[in-house]
Amino acid sequence: MWIRMRLDIGWRDIASGFGFCVMPIKRSIAEKRAKDSWSRGDDFLITLSVRSAFDLMLRALQLPPGSEVLLSALTVPDMVRIVKLHELVPVPVDTDEAGNIISDSLKRAISPQTRMIVIAHLFGGSAPLDEVHKVAKDHDLLVVEDCAQSFLRPGDSGHPESDAALFSFGPIKTASALGGAVARIKSPELRERMAGLLESDSIQSRKSFALRIARFSVLKLLSGNFMAEFTRCCVERFGGDFDSMSNSAARGFSSAELLKQLRRQPSTPLLRLMERRWQNYDFTRIDRRMRMGRLLDTKIGIKRGAFHSYWVYPIFVRDPIAVCERLCAAGFDATCQARMTVVPAIDDARKAVSACSRWEHAVFLPWYPDMPFEALDDMIDLLSESDIRKGGI
Ligand SMILES: Cc1ncc(COP(=O)(O)O)c(C=O)c1O
Repeated sequence: MWIRMRLDIGWRDIASGFGFCVMPIKRSIAEKRAKDSWSRGDDFLITLSVRSAFDLMLRALQLPPGSEVLLSALTVPDMVRIVKLHELVPVPVDTDEAGNIISDSLKRAISPQTRMIVIAHLFGGSAPLDEVHKVAKDHDLLVVEDCAQSFLRPGDSGHPESDAALFSFGPIKTASALGGAVARIKSPELRERMAGLLESDSIQSRKSFALRIARFSVLKLLSGNFMAEFTRCCVERFGGDFDSMSNSAARGFSSAELLKQLRRQPSTPLLRLMERRWQNYDFTRIDRRMRMGRLLDTKIGIKRGAFHSYWVYPIFVRDPIAVCERLCAAGFDATCQARMTVVPAIDDARKAVSACSRWEHAVFLPWYPDMPFEALDDMIDLLSESDIRKGGI
């Protein structure tokens, strides 16, 4: 069975990660090396996760309670939760067929309480930002780019006018270090305030990072074709739900006490693993993923205007459950469950109608550069013309 996702980290990196957990090194040296291997600039911070960086930014900004934070309508639930935990109000901005912000929805979402816009570059795509920056300038709003799904190269920094750009190296991300993130922050004052707060946070322990590596090693072991099929059979035999189990297995932090888990500095071994990944990652994997994506686009008939790195490949179908069942029966672990959510509306005028309707029809295909092109052909052959809703993210 082709499992839905494989961790983008090799056994040598995992072995090195374990090694870093036991080898002593001065933290300041590990930090400097990691920073140097990301970029020669000094406009960024390394944090435990994108969610940690976002929380840190909100801690540093101290926006008045009740301020509104606009979020692209599709995002991960924790980003919405973090906004609420800061006593701020999350407001969705609707997205169109290509996953981009709908201009009218953006203008409608703004109120006198709005302070910030968070734009997620979804699925490996690249959302156009010129219009967003123009609107943000007119209303004096901060712009945060959530690049958790769109990392391409060390030193990526997002749009130069954005106040922040956040890149994730969590377990399911490109060039995973099983954790860690980079936050490029434009304002030196804000960056300094964030750095001060970050320094006062506790440091993730070596033991906790070692346990995390162990957990994801088991998941990696189970994601080979034979082991994935075997695990599915075992889970189903004992009455379990393989789909839900697969989605929660790769979760980075549990939902309980979210802020407590986010407010930690990355451990020294995690800094070393990030350095190793940025220096040694085989970037041709992204090129191959892009070739796979373009091939599928052609076969399905999807036209994308902007750059796309195809981190995942969702399709939008009339009957997602039937399509998933058909694909799963043929050995492709497609899912209509994903770890993302549509940001709930706070009033009728600001509903994300388009994002909601697309999200109900999404199916995520198994997707990683190790998949042979023949497997992609087989997947497409299982989809009929009538399944596909044209125009996709
Ligand atoms: C769009 C988006 N934002 C934020 C995050 C959170 O990233 P992290 O796990 O580094 O906190 C994710 C993780 O999948 C994501 O997809």
